[in-house]
Amino acid sequence: MNAARDFLAPVFAQYPLEVSSGEGVWLHTASGRRVLDLYGGHAVAALGYGHPGWTRALAEQAQTLNFQSNAVPLEVRARAAARLIEFSRLDFNSVFFVNSGAEANENALKMAFTITGRSEVVALEHSFHGRTAAAGALTWGAAGKWYGLPRTPFDVRFIARRDLSALNAISERTAAVVVEPVQGVGGAFDLGAEYLAALRRRCNETGAQLVFDEVQCGMGRTGEPFAANLYGVQPDMLTTAKALGNGFPVAVLMMTPRVASAVKLDALGTTFGGGPMACAVVCAVIDAIESEDLLANVRRVSACIRERCLVGPVHGFQGAGFLAGLICSRPAKDIQRALLERDILTGTSGDPQVLRLLPPFILRESEVELLRSALLDIGP
Ligand SMILES: Cc1ncc(COP(=O)(O)O)c(C=O)c1O
Repeated sequence: MNAARDFLAPVFAQYPLEVSSGEGVWLHTASGRRVLDLYGGHAVAALGYGHPGWTRALAEQAQTLNFQSNAVPLEVRARAAARLIEFSRLDFNSVFFVNSGAEANENALKMAFTITGRSEVVALEHSFHGRTAAAGALTWGAAGKWYGLPRTPFDVRFIARRDLSALNAISERTAAVVVEPVQGVGGAFDLGAEYLAALRRRCNETGAQLVFDEVQCGMGRTGEPFAANLYGVQPDMLTTAKALGNGFPVAVLMMTPRVASAVKLDALGTTFGGGPMACAVVCAVIDAIESEDLLANVRRVSACIRERCLVGPVHGFQGAGFLAGLICSRPAKDIQRALLERDILTGTSGDPQVLRLLPPFILRESEVELLRSALLDIGP
């Protein structure tokens, strides 16, 4: 077992926990330990583990037709796109399926450069947009740490988050402003309706494309379809992934009619994106969110976290819905370790004081009580 593991590139710090199976919001180890998962595999496991509708959809699609490329029209692909647009309740009419959040962001940038003919991008401090050449260029601090390429493919200006006075950096040279409406890696940091509306206005004034990266905060995680709904701001493009597939790799770029009208034949492309299995799971995720009223559950149970978990080392909250930041009086990594010793899995973030919760949307109030008890036990 150890020898086999040695063949994996050693790029990820490892939790002291080897998971063998999962059920609902619980992870199981081979030795019979049960761990409450409040992290969902970096925000992916929106329906938790072993969801019957999701599992059935994947198995049935695998048996019916496991793959055909985008050159071949597929009913399931068209249906997934229509379901997503309807689910979003936003002014989008076109969907481009890809495989990862970073890839969705790359394609959004291509569209912004094509539409504007400009070459500069504005991003926010503490942002995370992925690890590819363009997405990494937009990611705060990547250049000094892991970017790994000799130069970025375009100029990026980073501005302070929630700072209205910094919006003058957006100009007639700006092709796109890319933001996570609720920053994930940056510490479950919500930008708020006022700031996002100001960004929208500044983009309108300058002709820059406003791109919401909802790879982590979208697809129901805030208790609304997207954070764009929560804050009442319509972006020109929106990317989402993670919860979209509940573990099957799928991501998407959604475009307004104006952006979509600039998409030309062959301008964007992918082999695996929009494959039938990915599209079947997208439909299954939306089915489950709607039929199980999971948006209401996220709103209710996230309010319960705020009411019940201001205890022990937690002295404040930030974020939105199930992208929750628990502001701690001690380093979050120490609290994370102490919670895992008490069989609760949580995440840290770029902010050393913020513990990040990204639980499955099916989490219940009774499970929040387990978190409360553990935090009380850990103490201030
Ligand atoms: C906000 C945000 N954008 C983009 C990405 C990159 O997504 P992926 O790892 O699927 O490329 C992430 C991943 O954590 C993310 O949180």
